[in-house]
Amino acid sequence: MSFVVVGTLEELSDDIPLPVEVDDVGLAIVRHDGELFAIRDECSHARVPLSEGDVEDCTIECYLHGSRFDLRTGAATNLPATQRVPVFPVRLDGDDICVDIENPIPATSFDTTDNQEL
Ligand code: FES
Repeated sequence: MSFVVVGTLEELSDDIPLPVEVDDVGLAIVRHDGELFAIRDECSHARVPLSEGDVEDCTIECYLHGSRFDLRTGAATNLPATQRVPVFPVRLDGDDICVDIENPIPATSFDTTDNQEL
């Protein structure tokens, strides 16, 4: 894994997405309930920035049509979006926020069997 610094804790406020760019890839960095998340800053429905949306219940909302994406998995939790958005490993190095942009977390990392009946 190759983590790169994308910002510092001082730049981040709880539940206010911080847009950053790494290797021409836009990310939204979010601190929610004491955890850090890195999600691609692009809605899978019509490619607008997710960093302009609200954060609630470990999801980020697309401001345009209201789809929400799970910050842990990137999964769309309601229509109109149906496609997952990539999420990335994120960690702290002191006050530096570091993201591994080369190794998105694979969808197979998440157990979605509980949701298949819904
Ligand atoms: S553009 Fe995001 S839900 Fe439509």
